[in-house]
Amino acid sequence: RCLNISLGSLSSECLGNLLRVILHSEYFEDKYLTFAAVDQFGIAQEIDETLAAQCGYTIEYNYWGNIEFRASILSCHTHIESDVYTVAIQIQAATDPDMKNAATHLKTVRCPYGPWHSRELVCETNYMEVSVKRNVPQITDLLQDEPEDWALAFPEATAGAVSIWQVVFHLPTGRKALLASDALHAGYGLNTTDTRILLRAPFNAAEAQLVKVQGVTFSAVRASTFYKQRWMILMVDTAVACPVDGVDYTNETITWTIPKNLQPLSAGATIFSDLLVEMGVDLHKLAARETASRKYVLLNSTDAITIQIPIGAEGGYYKTHVSEGQHGTKYNINLFLEHQWEDNRWGVTKHTIIKKIETPFKLVPPTITNYTNSSIRLVNVTVGIFLPDVELVNLTIDATTVTVPEALQYGYKVYETRYPNGSKGYVIETPFDVPLIKKEYLTEDTRLYTLNVTLGFDVQPTHETFSVPVIIISPVQDAVLPSARGFCDKENLYLTVIRGNVDQNWLPFISNLSLSPEAAQKHNYRLDDNGTHFTIRVPLYAPHILYEEIHPSGIRASLHLTMKDNTLADMTDFSISCRFSPEELIECLPNGTMSITALKLAGIEDLDTSLFVLRDRQCRPATVTEKSATFIFSVNTCGTSRKFENTVMIYENDVSYFRPGSTTPIYQLKCECHYIINETIFVQYGTKNNPAPSINPGFGTLALILQLYRDKSYSDSYMETEYPVVKYLKEALYFEVELLQSEDPQLELYLEDCWSTTSQDRDSSPQWSIITNSCENAEDAYQTTFHKVDRNSRVKFPTHLKRFEVKMFTFMQDGKALLEQ
Ligand SMILES: *[C@@H]1O[C@H](CO)[C@@H](O)[C@H](O)[C@H]1NC(C)=O
Ligand SMILES: *[C@@H]1O[C@H](CO)[C@@H](O)[C@H](O)[C@H]1NC(C)=O
Ligand SMILES: *[C@@H]1O[C@H](CO)[C@@H](O)[C@H](O)[C@H]1NC(C)=O
Ligand SMILES: *[C@@H]1O[C@H](CO)[C@@H](O)[C@H](O)[C@H]1NC(C)=O
Ligand SMILES: *[C@@H]1O[C@H](CO)[C@@H](O)[C@H](O)[C@H]1NC(C)=O
Ligand SMILES: *[C@@H]1O[C@H](CO)[C@@H](O)[C@H](O)[C@H]1NC(C)=O
Ligand SMILES: *[C@@H]1O[C@H](CO)[C@@H](O)[C@H](O)[C@H]1NC(C)=O
Ligand SMILES: *[C@@H]1O[C@H](CO)[C@@H](O)[C@H](O)[C@H]1NC(C)=O
Ligand SMILES: *[C@@H]1O[C@H](CO)[C@@H](O)[C@H](O)[C@H]1NC(C)=O
Ligand SMILES: *[C@@H]1O[C@H](CO)[C@@H](O)[C@H](O)[C@H]1NC(C)=O
Ligand SMILES: *[C@@H]1O[C@H](CO)[C@@H](O)[C@H](O)[C@H]1NC(C)=O
Ligand SMILES: *[C@@H]1O[C@H](CO)[C@@H](O)[C@H](O)[C@H]1NC(C)=O
Repeated sequence: RCLNISLGSLSSECLGNLLRVILHSEYFEDKYLTFAAVDQFGIAQEIDETLAAQCGYTIEYNYWGNIEFRASILSCHTHIESDVYTVAIQIQAATDPDMKNAATHLKTVRCPYGPWHSRELVCETNYMEVSVKRNVPQITDLLQDEPEDWALAFPEATAGAVSIWQVVFHLPTGRKALLASDALHAGYGLNTTDTRILLRAPFNAAEAQLVKVQGVTFSAVRASTFYKQRWMILMVDTAVACPVDGVDYTNETITWTIPKNLQPLSAGATIFSDLLVEMGVDLHKLAARETASRKYVLLNSTDAITIQIPIGAEGGYYKTHVSEGQHGTKYNINLFLEHQWEDNRWGVTKHTIIKKIETPFKLVPPTITNYTNSSIRLVNVTVGIFLPDVELVNLTIDATTVTVPEALQYGYKVYETRYPNGSKGYVIETPFDVPLIKKEYLTEDTRLYTLNVTLGFDVQPTHETFSVPVIIISPVQDAVLPSARGFCDKENLYLTVIRGNVDQNWLPFISNLSLSPEAAQKHNYRLDDNGTHFTIRVPLYAPHILYEEIHPSGIRASLHLTMKDNTLADMTDFSISCRFSPEELIECLPNGTMSITALKLAGIEDLDTSLFVLRDRQCRPATVTEKSATFIFSVNTCGTSRKFENTVMIYENDVSYFRPGSTTPIYQLKCECHYIINETIFVQYGTKNNPAPSINPGFGTLALILQLYRDKSYSDSYMETEYPVVKYLKEALYFEVELLQSEDPQLELYLEDCWSTTSQDRDSSPQWSIITNSCENAEDAYQTTFHKVDRNSRVKFPTHLKRFEVKMFTFMQDGKALLEQ
């Protein structure tokens, strides 16, 4: 790639004994440059810093990044031809530091100059230069004998080749002589022209001395230069002195003081007269009228010249600088002074002093102007005021750094705004609703919108950087708090939360569980979130369900959801509570038995279901599982209490859980059984006549047997052969009557009447009743007693038998017992 330097990118000027080439920033900005002087043989001699000071070249940035190349018209490789001084420079510009593919441009500047004053001094920014007229002394007085000879020889003497032989420096410690070659080696510039002897010294030359003149410090080199011309060795005084300070600043004014009658330059002179005092800016002299209109002041007393410049005055410029990361400005002005005087030793001296002045750093805090208009929901902020050399390069939003065009993708419109004087500001416009505007809930109805960006700036051309944080907080009454509704089905509880607009950073928690999709999945809770709403479904027996009451009819369970902010402070909470009728958790049996199933509850660590107890802590569960314990107990045990309410009788007990050693239950579940004691039941019924009994009569005899037994056990009867059985009075007789042959269990034998007679004729008299109308004869002392008949091996149908006991008695006749009957 070949770069061409357009002609417009370089311009040149002749400025008295200096010449200048300007490289315009539009082209040369950000290029790598080398400068070389083209010597008399056409060879380019690269100019580095040392060579520049030795040879009379100066390279520096000027206003807004233009590059200024200056050369003394007596620079090393100046070509001199009849008062025209030609300097040829070669500039190479490349985009890479290795200078590959550099574009080369040769610039030749021709400047006429003259007439020369007998001594001319230039104080450049990087060197001091003095040139002194080379006079071959008129020695006619000495050669009065042969004036013609002299007249012949003189032109030849003056035109002859000159060479500098040695330089003698006048130091406080004495003299120090250096051969020309050594002086060149030490960094001095030495040369001669047809008419002049030149000495150039860098400010840091070893033989340069700092000299105070009226309080102002000068760098001075006092030297005598010896040169050979034909047969002569001549000497000129080549002293040079340049001020290194003398500039004072107040808040408003720059004051530059240059003393007159400088001792190092005026050795041997006694009479001085000013010829010219002129000042200028950027090497351009200014007419008095112009100086006044710019409010510059040039004071010229016998001892000193004083220049006062109001800070900010035309001719200078402000430049942005960065100090400790903060931006500020310095005012710069490139002054120069030309002072000509005549004295009785040197003739006319012209002293040209170039002074680059830069005021101290002044912090310029950026002005942030808030034009935010909440009614149109737009953050609008202006950041300024910056000099044109400041460029916004990036924005850091929420730890992300983006360029200005990229910021638009995030909803940040950033543009430059110019003021009439060239200064600029930056406007940031962004709607409240872009995601990177932080929204925070403040109160019931107010949200805070925060713009928090850091602007990164770059200063041209030095690439210093600084940043400006911009924080705009706008409270707006537009908060909509989240709301919720809940419902249940047979097995689950549901909560639907409408997020509102304040909860961007609010997180839902159920008890201490942060309800992330992962957490929900882990617990098998279903979470549906579409951004504006989310619904959580939690099963009835999940660990995050709270069981509030258990009744015979069911169980009341609730789900609590809390919205927490990022500091985990509770912001709002919601709950849904429902009654469920799952399997029988409490059963109240009609026989007064309660069956209670207690569920393991959320929130109680390592609950051991076998440790559930009733009011009477001795009552332990009948069965336990890992998640439940079942008690079965009668309502009049286990500390159950009873009360009456209207028509119900309520039995109450509690299932409690005590931590081992604790007397306060950490869990208590109240259980009740309700029994209705007075109830009106409406029952419908119909009647139906019983079928008429059908009787089938039949005839036959019932076989019966009457037997006497030995004792009450009725196991052993008297045999037929044992009759007549002998018994004594009042001894018990055990009779049994049995129906024989019948197998009909429905039949029952009844003894209607039984009596005794003295003879076999049952109708004879006297008679004694034993059983009358199926009842025992209850006469005193002779009571008949029935005995129960039990089933046994002999007795198949007890109803077929009757047993009775009678005490032995006797009939009386005529007041006498009938013995043995
Ligand atoms: C002296 O000046 C001449 C003419 O300008 C020049 O060619 C030469 O290079 C200079 N010598 C030094 C040592 O600067
Ligand atoms: C100069 O400016 C500084 C800061 O602005 C101020 O503190 C100081 O008083 C000023 N000095 C004068 C002499 O005005
Ligand atoms: C000031 O400078 C001028 C030349 O520009 C000279 O004529 C005049 O004498 C000087 N004034 C003083 C007080 O030195
Ligand atoms: C905000 O914008 C509205 C609508 O453009 C306008 O009427 C109102 O004056 C603006 N308010 C401010 C303080 O600029
Ligand atoms: C933002 O403020 C600037 C400065 O007041 C104004 O020029 C610009 O129009 C405002 N932008 C909007 C969109 O209102
Ligand atoms: C602004 O953002 C920075 C970093 O992104 C952060 O350190 C700072 O606390 C924020 N300031 C405010 C007021 O939010
Ligand atoms: C340029 O103009 C702005 C706005 O009018 C002003 O604030 C600033 O001080 C001016 N800057 C300079 C260097 O004059
Ligand atoms: C943003 O710009 C500043 C100033 O120019 C610079 O210091 C910083 O490195 C830039 N940041 C990024 C990430 O480019
Ligand atoms: C910016 O302006 C808005 C709207 O006028 C106002 O509510 C807010 O308080 C301002 N912020 C700052 C930091 O001045
Ligand atoms: C949250 O609760 C669970 C169960 O109740 C418990 O295991 C866990 O340690 C708790 N976590 C925190 C941070 O409190
Ligand atoms: C989210 O779901 C709710 C119902 O749950 C519905 O009303 C709402 O419109 C949905 N929003 C979006 C953005 O889909
Ligand atoms: C039963 O209820 C009825 C009507 O309420 C009342 O008249 C009657 O006295 C009640 N009987 C008992 C035993 O409570």
